[in-house]
Amino acid sequence: MSHQVRGVVARGKGAPVSLETIIVPDPGPGEALVKIEACGVCHTDLHYREGGINDDFPFLLGHEAAGVVESVGEGVTDVAPGDFVILNWRAVCGQCRACLRGRPWYCFNTHNAKQKMTLLDGTELSPALGIGAFAEKTLVAAGQCTKVDRSASAAAAGLLGCGVMAGIGAAINTGNVGRGDSVAVIGCGGVGDAAIMGSNLAGAAKIIAVDLDDRKLETARKLGATHTVNSKETDPVEAIRELTGGHGADVVIEAVGRPETYQQAFYARDLAGTVVLVGVPTPEMKLELPLLDVFGRGGSLKSSWYGDCLPSRDFPMLIDLYLQGRLNLDAFVTETIALDDVEKAFERMHGGDVLRSVVVL
Ligand SMILES: NC(=O)c1ccc[n+]([C@@H]2O[C@H](COP(=O)([O-])OP(=O)(O)OC[C@H]3O[C@@H](n4cnc5c(N)ncnc54)[C@H](O)[C@@H]3O)[C@@H](O)[C@H]2O)c1
Ligand SMILES: [Zn+2]
Ligand SMILES: [Zn+2]
Repeated sequence: MSHQVRGVVARGKGAPVSLETIIVPDPGPGEALVKIEACGVCHTDLHYREGGINDDFPFLLGHEAAGVVESVGEGVTDVAPGDFVILNWRAVCGQCRACLRGRPWYCFNTHNAKQKMTLLDGTELSPALGIGAFAEKTLVAAGQCTKVDRSASAAAAGLLGCGVMAGIGAAINTGNVGRGDSVAVIGCGGVGDAAIMGSNLAGAAKIIAVDLDDRKLETARKLGATHTVNSKETDPVEAIRELTGGHGADVVIEAVGRPETYQQAFYARDLAGTVVLVGVPTPEMKLELPLLDVFGRGGSLKSSWYGDCLPSRDFPMLIDLYLQGRLNLDAFVTETIALDDVEKAFERMHGGDVLRSVVVL
């Protein structure tokens, strides 16, 4: 059997997205069919539409989602129909060399549903990040579903599925921010702001937010930044050093994904400090640094894939903190919109006044 539902499809490079009828198969072995309740609009969806990720059009967009499992295929035991779940785009395999060494958050062989969702004429869809959740229902690998407390709002919970988890994880997992640390976060969009919240949760003593836009800095302060630097007006390296006794921050999180902001992060950290790159660069970008500085400044230069999260460990824990009022996920939900408003939400992304538009079904 299969299901006919509505979904947001990007048919070709740069073309506006359209709301189409799509066909979702019943789950096969290891798969789950999920009824979507909410899905955030992320920059990556726009990248897909612009052909910036790959050319596998048509795409079924949407990947920051929460919903309820409707049915599961053969052999699925971790989730069951009726479970409220957050979808993740890195279902760990349990068998690759990273998993076997007990480091599943690095899994080198993450998986998605095997069966394809299609358009009415049978054209196969490429689901964004193996999810495709701007749709009433979607088909994923069961490992992409993480059960969490039903009392969380779907709009807030779904955001843990991508950018917010990436930011929190960049601080608490990759950067290993600890009590008393000084942290600087360069780029205060959804990801950077989440890194600020994560640093706050971890007990950082000083959290310096850096952005080019004063409105972003205002929000960053509301979400836990103790100091702000507008790097359009002030040299951020100097400013961060000044705010940290002349030394630099223990951990600097780069949440833009550009060579110049990476260099700022590199020089704004203390000796033996940590740089975390969570912003995603584009293929033509190059980085040039004196190798002697790389050696001489010591410490560690790390990248953060999805906040080095382990969904089964991190999602339920963060939802508990949210329900206790200790993690303000609602602050990321600037507006809730309908399925046919995704194109408008893409336009608003450039305005700078939206952290997340969230489609609620
Ligand atoms: N590593 C991961 O797994 C992962 C997951 C999701 C997103 N990301 C990446 O994280 C980055 C941020 O995502 P987002 O959703 O927060 O994007 P966003 O566009 O909402 O935010 C980017 C912020 O950076 C600021 N900015 C731009 N150029 C700057 C500069 N030169 N100096 C200081 N600030 C600058 C912007 O004003 C904006 O506030 C993107 O590159 C995105 O692709 C990574
Ligand atoms: Zn693996
Ligand atoms: Zn995303």
